[in-house]
Amino acid sequence: MLPQIKTLDEYRQQYQASVDDPQQFWANIGAHFNWQRKWDKVLDWNFQDPSIKWYDGAQLNITENCLDRHLPARADQVAIIWEPNDPKEAARHITYGELHASVQRFANVLLNNGVKKGDRVCIYLPMIPEAAVAMLACARIGAVHSVVFAGFSAQSISDRVNDSGCRMIITADGFYRGEKKFELKGIVAAALQSTPTIEKCIVFNHRNLPVKMEAGRDLWWHEEWQKADAENKAATVEAEDPLFILYTSGSTGKPKGVLHTTAGYMVFAAYTFKNVFQYQEGEVFCCTADIGWVTGHSYIVYGPLLNGATTIMFEGVPTYPDHGRFWELIDKHKVNIFYTAPTAIRSLQAFGEDIFADKDLSSLRVLGSVGEPINEEAWHWYHDNVGKGKCPIVDTWWQTETGGVMISPLAGITPLKPAFATLPLPGVELLLVDEKGNEIKGNGVEGNLCIRHPWPGMARSVYGDHPRFKQTYFSTYPGLYFTGDGCRRDEDGYYRITGRVDDVINVSGHRIGTGELEDAISMHGEVIESAVVAYPHDVKGQAIYAYVICDKHIENKDVLYKDIRDHVTQVIGAFARPDKIQIVPGLPRTRSGKIMRRILRKIAEGDTGNLGDTSTLIDPSVVDTIKAEAIH
Ligand code: WT7
Repeated sequence: MLPQIKTLDEYRQQYQASVDDPQQFWANIGAHFNWQRKWDKVLDWNFQDPSIKWYDGAQLNITENCLDRHLPARADQVAIIWEPNDPKEAARHITYGELHASVQRFANVLLNNGVKKGDRVCIYLPMIPEAAVAMLACARIGAVHSVVFAGFSAQSISDRVNDSGCRMIITADGFYRGEKKFELKGIVAAALQSTPTIEKCIVFNHRNLPVKMEAGRDLWWHEEWQKADAENKAATVEAEDPLFILYTSGSTGKPKGVLHTTAGYMVFAAYTFKNVFQYQEGEVFCCTADIGWVTGHSYIVYGPLLNGATTIMFEGVPTYPDHGRFWELIDKHKVNIFYTAPTAIRSLQAFGEDIFADKDLSSLRVLGSVGEPINEEAWHWYHDNVGKGKCPIVDTWWQTETGGVMISPLAGITPLKPAFATLPLPGVELLLVDEKGNEIKGNGVEGNLCIRHPWPGMARSVYGDHPRFKQTYFSTYPGLYFTGDGCRRDEDGYYRITGRVDDVINVSGHRIGTGELEDAISMHGEVIESAVVAYPHDVKGQAIYAYVICDKHIENKDVLYKDIRDHVTQVIGAFARPDKIQIVPGLPRTRSGKIMRRILRKIAEGDTGNLGDTSTLIDPSVVDTIKAEAIH
């Protein structure tokens, strides 16, 4: 059994050991997994190239660790509980034995359809167990999954499919989220108009929605299932073979295909799950993220299954059929650990405490928060009303690129401080630096958050573009991994994330690059140029404010605004729609042509009293016009 830290002293001692001798520390953790061949060297690295290799020389299959290994003890234990969008529909309970059988069979479906080790497979599915089956089946044969969140547009799918040259895409007819219907197959059909590498599209019939199947390309999941053999021997995969690609936004350019490899990711996902949540044998774990994001990868699928846990997949939304849905779900499935995003907490907070009436939340032992800073008010509401003052909250800071949780309390062990992610996990060596890259030592300080030593779960590259990996994460401060976040270390040495210091916006925990959004808006026929900034929002954390320059006088602005929003939905997805749009005659530019976003941000925040020095602008008068017409 994977080691679990039990006391604060033990945490401190383990942390020290992980810094003093990282190789020995991670060798000890690695010893608790199934390897087809043991590693030659625990770690080989430099942050210059950068090149990071964990457990090099080892061979394994992550699905043997998620599934086969548990069978003697847990074949009949529930691995996945599926809670459907409509609470009147029956939940599904899938045991480890059943999941193992499904993954083997679907692995054979992949093989029968020409997918080979190393091939990329795109997964565009709703929150149904088949999504986990598809991911694990890829891993079973050594194919690389690239899950695309089912809220992304056709354009976003084809961009991602083409970037990594996916050979197959797996989707469903569609699904309902709340009252809303999403017809996935139609969106995929549009995407596949421009994806030359896709040979096969496998369609799971989830809701019996009418779909058009293209002969030769589109295949029904259930028909392929019938044709496939039941048994599949797990492929032999090298430690550093890719496991998955997950696209994420940065401040510039198109989304990056963050690449994770097999052994290090496995060890880190499993270790962090067990220690952060202090998972106990037999407990029910519920993470409300979507598997289209890294949280779903690491803490719905891999982390829980590697630990033999019972994990919930929830298809719906917190507000359907009413605002008590989360609490009903906890009551119904006797959830012990509940992990959600601050946005969800803030959106439910507004409905008062009545939504808890007649719900029994006594099964809860640990609460978690992820994806964005949690404000103190939301923290206390979560702690007092959901946890009834008895459940520790683990505020977990991490990123798509880190693979697993990096800074977090260990539930019930680390003394909490509201809105603080508290302390780094063993193996995570943090430092704060100033703009020039000088380390800011001591406590009671603030700076840019960097990491000085590799950890097993870290991304290894940007798919197909290693120079971009170096440029994005290892060039700002040579020799260090730069997170893009600002951070405070208080008098007790506790860490509090203050938010992105780059041009990345975090709307409801969704990461959106301003550059990407500006490109999408500027592609609209009537827009010449745009600049996007974030402003604080009570529920979403941050919201999007877009300044646009149009090529002619606009008669009906509301029509244009709606049009721009629809356009963004088409290019990226509905979650990236700007909240406020303002037509402006020009943008505040410096003589070197740089847009002064600082000023745009202040105006969006409604803080126009002191805009600072505007003397370097080419045309300072443009600021007055923007200010006068700002939307509040
Ligand atoms: C960015 C990463 C971690 C999985 C989900 C998001 C922000 C994440 C916290 C937290 C404050 C947080 C950071 C980070 N973030 N967790 N507990 N407190 N901020 O993954 O989409 O890769 O986004 O989310 O700004 O850099 P992601």
